[in-house]
Amino acid sequence: MKILVVGSGGREHTMVWKLAQSPRKPILYCAPGNAGIASLATCVSIKADDISKLKEFVIQEQIDVTVVGPEAPLALGIVDEFRKARLRVFGPTRNAARVETSKTFSKEVMAQAKIRTAQARSFNKAAEALAYLEQHGVPVVIKADGLAQGKGVIIATTSEQATQAIQDCMEKAVFGPAGQQILIEEFLDGEELTIMAFTDGTTIVPMPPAQDHKRVGDRDTGLNTGGMGAYCPAPLGTNALRDQVVREVLQPMVDAMARIGSPFQGVLYAGLMIVNGIPYVLEFNARMGDPETQVVLPLLKTDLLDVIEAVIDHRLEQLPVEWSGEAAVCVVMTSGGYPGAYQQGKVITGLPTTSTGSSSSVVFHAGTAQRDKEIVTAGGRVLGVLGLGSTLSDARREAYQVANTISFEGCHFRTDIAHRALRM
Ligand code: AMP
Ligand code: GLY
Repeated sequence: MKILVVGSGGREHTMVWKLAQSPRKPILYCAPGNAGIASLATCVSIKADDISKLKEFVIQEQIDVTVVGPEAPLALGIVDEFRKARLRVFGPTRNAARVETSKTFSKEVMAQAKIRTAQARSFNKAAEALAYLEQHGVPVVIKADGLAQGKGVIIATTSEQATQAIQDCMEKAVFGPAGQQILIEEFLDGEELTIMAFTDGTTIVPMPPAQDHKRVGDRDTGLNTGGMGAYCPAPLGTNALRDQVVREVLQPMVDAMARIGSPFQGVLYAGLMIVNGIPYVLEFNARMGDPETQVVLPLLKTDLLDVIEAVIDHRLEQLPVEWSGEAAVCVVMTSGGYPGAYQQGKVITGLPTTSTGSSSSVVFHAGTAQRDKEIVTAGGRVLGVLGLGSTLSDARREAYQVANTISFEGCHFRTDIAHRALRM
């Protein structure tokens, strides 16, 4: 069996690593992949958003299943195109991916499905947004409607910041077309939690709760990033809370998408704010999180390939999905300067020699490339070091032990991943 994973980050390395453990021994390909993925799969130099080239490759190589990692190809309709050509593909259609690609759409469906979320108003004229701001006051959250690589959210604590954010989005178009429509959203004060679920459009199978660390610096300081680390299971996500999220968030959303004729198949990601024990949705994503995948998939005991096929074939209800009771912590190592400007091409030393990792740690590559005999940095987020253990503190120790042996010029990582769980 031949599988193609689309993408090139730490999330995709984790997916490939997990699929490589399948007892069904699939032959793995990744487009475009990275230097770490290359040790487990054949990397094909086709960009993740070049749908026609991907389709051509899949037909030519007779790939059995394509698994889509990032949101960009989903937003461009890779699933629709592949299905038209009768190719088996894991992920939502373009219309279903609107849960992520349009915040306004996502809010409308949540309203229909009576899912708790921050109250928000949508605007496509700056003057109206500014007038609303004057009545509403601060703090508020200003969000570009479309995809802005995690950067289109501004939390404004003063009206000057809020005014600036509205002008930047709508008049200066700093987020391009994504910011032509904005949401002004109520600020929610609580703790964040990610719960992802596999779904075939009807049945949902939740994954253990995880927590991401979005700010670049220790103690949650500095700029927002794509994610500096994650851990799972997050103690905040008790069984009771997870059941509540399934009942009040995930299932109603999947049911609502089916009702409006855009059934959602793949992974539905709920980014939640837990306010006094009650879950509010901050955002839905139409794919697995990065770096949440790096701490969630290693805990999956069932063969990932079986889960993927059960989703594609609408028979998730019949598949028992099991999770290990272990804990996982992932520390992301970044290029100096990230999320601002950073240099690339720095030689990475101290990487473990085995590509499959050990029973207690794995180094996932995010932005790396092979240059002659060396592995060099090729992105802002460079590596994700996973530690596994029977407790979060064991997992954390493993992750940092390995991270401390790896170096490259300008390397940065947070030293406090999992601090909320461990009350550091
Ligand atoms: P989003 O891309 O919508 O998840 O927003 C990015 C980050 O901004 C979230 O992870 C939160 O930390 C923060 N955020 C978004 N919406 C709100 C809100 N309504 N209240 C407080 N913080 C928020
Ligand atoms: N870790 C957040 C995301 O993948 O969107």
